[in-house]
Amino acid sequence: MIVVLIGYMGSGKSTIGKELAILLSYNFLDLDDYISEREETTITDIFKEKGEIYFRKKETEYLNEIINSLDNVVLALGGGTPCYGNNLSVIKKSENIISVYLKLSIPLLAKRLFPERGNRPLISHLKSEEELIEFIGKHLFERSPFYAKADYIINTDYKSKKDILEAILMQLI
Ligand code: S3P
Repeated sequence: MIVVLIGYMGSGKSTIGKELAILLSYNFLDLDDYISEREETTITDIFKEKGEIYFRKKETEYLNEIINSLDNVVLALGGGTPCYGNNLSVIKKSENIISVYLKLSIPLLAKRLFPERGNRPLISHLKSEEELIEFIGKHLFERSPFYAKADYIINTDYKSKKDILEAILMQLI
């Protein structure tokens, strides 16, 4: 089984994913880290030097590579992964994949993302938390329909890591 974690930047996909993998005795993979390793550069530099279209092409390519070659993994996607190309339909079509959307409200996403926006090329230019809130609002309006197609939606607002993990495990077992 592959457990795919979906959600906006800063929703906790990697943090929760790592711990979920331990609990399930699965391996953990972060798609961004995988891309970064294979391309031998950072995500920021891929955006800067080759552009977003190149990044999206590679994202789809490596997503398919992982799905077709690995099993017993928790895979944290990038925030945009399910919203481009046929990525979501590939995920939904596979009987071996369970998708989980980690849903966090806009103000909490902004609070978490503002101090660390430097290494996220899509939001690194934003000057204030207010601007970020507005950006996320518009972005989530476009992306939510994709995220909402996950097999399970976990509301994570004000939940501890332990609570989130329990909520996911309840759905998986
Ligand atoms: C992106 C999210 C990032 C990374 C890239 C684009 C997005 O991943 O893939 O910067 O489009 O939302 P995280 O969600 O892990 O930050």
